[in-house]
Amino acid sequence: KPVNVAILGATGAVGTELLQLLESRNFPINTLKLLASPRSAGTTLKFKGETLKVEAVEAKAFQDVDIVLASAGGSTSKAWAQTIVESGAVMVDNSSAFRMNPEVPLIVPEINPEAAANHPGIIANPNCTTILMAVAIYPLHQVQPIERIVVSTYQSASGAGARAMEEVKIQSQAILNGEDPKAEILPYPLAFNLFPHNSPLTDAGYCEEEMKMVNETRKIFGEANLKITATCVRVPVLRAHSEAINLEFKQPFSVAQAREIIAQSPGVQLLEDWQKNYFPMPIDASGKDDVLVGRIRQDISCNNGLELWICGDQIRKGAALNAVQVAELLIKESWLNKKPSTLKV
Ligand code: A2P
Repeated sequence: KPVNVAILGATGAVGTELLQLLESRNFPINTLKLLASPRSAGTTLKFKGETLKVEAVEAKAFQDVDIVLASAGGSTSKAWAQTIVESGAVMVDNSSAFRMNPEVPLIVPEINPEAAANHPGIIANPNCTTILMAVAIYPLHQVQPIERIVVSTYQSASGAGARAMEEVKIQSQAILNGEDPKAEILPYPLAFNLFPHNSPLTDAGYCEEEMKMVNETRKIFGEANLKITATCVRVPVLRAHSEAINLEFKQPFSVAQAREIIAQSPGVQLLEDWQKNYFPMPIDASGKDDVLVGRIRQDISCNNGLELWICGDQIRKGAALNAVQVAELLIKESWLNKKPSTLKV
């Protein structure tokens, strides 16, 4: 039966994509509420040919809502989680607020759908860069356990939201006009530049984005000790993230078998033309559901090693699509009811 849905953060980069996906996937909707900050109250967005008003989020907005797709940042998720759960809705949360909470399932439907059965009213959507890597390497890990992952990322401005994308365009224009680029949303000018990921640094010298890749991949795979190291970098690409992934398996893994597995697995697409030196690019991945995988090759420095190059749409599979797939899973399996829990939000 159709459900009542609310999008929290409807005006953002992920929010607008959520709206499009609910429409294009014919998600079974009874009522749809668009919620954002008071700044956006009264603005409108289109859904299935209708014009819907954006409302400022408030407690009564969640009455009679079955599923809240939240994508308004960690502090907004934290501020509203209690109200949402108490109102009886399930929150599929795109923020990092609850991802590592042991009671909250962290779900990539291609990998660990069964973990979504037991939820306390909140299900977390993993970090975008983590989802893209996880969906690409999990099919290989199932055939032959991974010993160690070394990943370097090339992350687009879209990861920092719609206003960061706009800022990169304005900076590019300024530079082409011979002016100094201004950075207000991102910490430094990104146009014609790059910088290590701007998330806060942690004690070990890794930034939070890098530690998300480590900790969230372990939680999604259910492998608390998987060895992972990551270097995350922002690049002046508007949309879609790329990642160079080095995998060391416990045993040798043939390139031919890896290609075959990637070609057959859900959520990923093999894209490589060795004759043309053509491999996935952000412009290929933008607007696509699948994570593109290519340049699969033997690591010449390690018998059990494979090198992979991937590109994926951070806003789609990295965020909005994954959240919608989680919501579809809850409906299909009748998992909308929350389980008794002591979760403090
Ligand atoms: P608004 O457009 O009113 O600021 P992005 O990730 O692209 O920056 O989008 C963030 C989304 O989260 C936007 O929809 C934004 O709404 C929303 N948002 C930000 N802060 C709040 C808040 N305090 N309460 C509700 N929504 C918020």
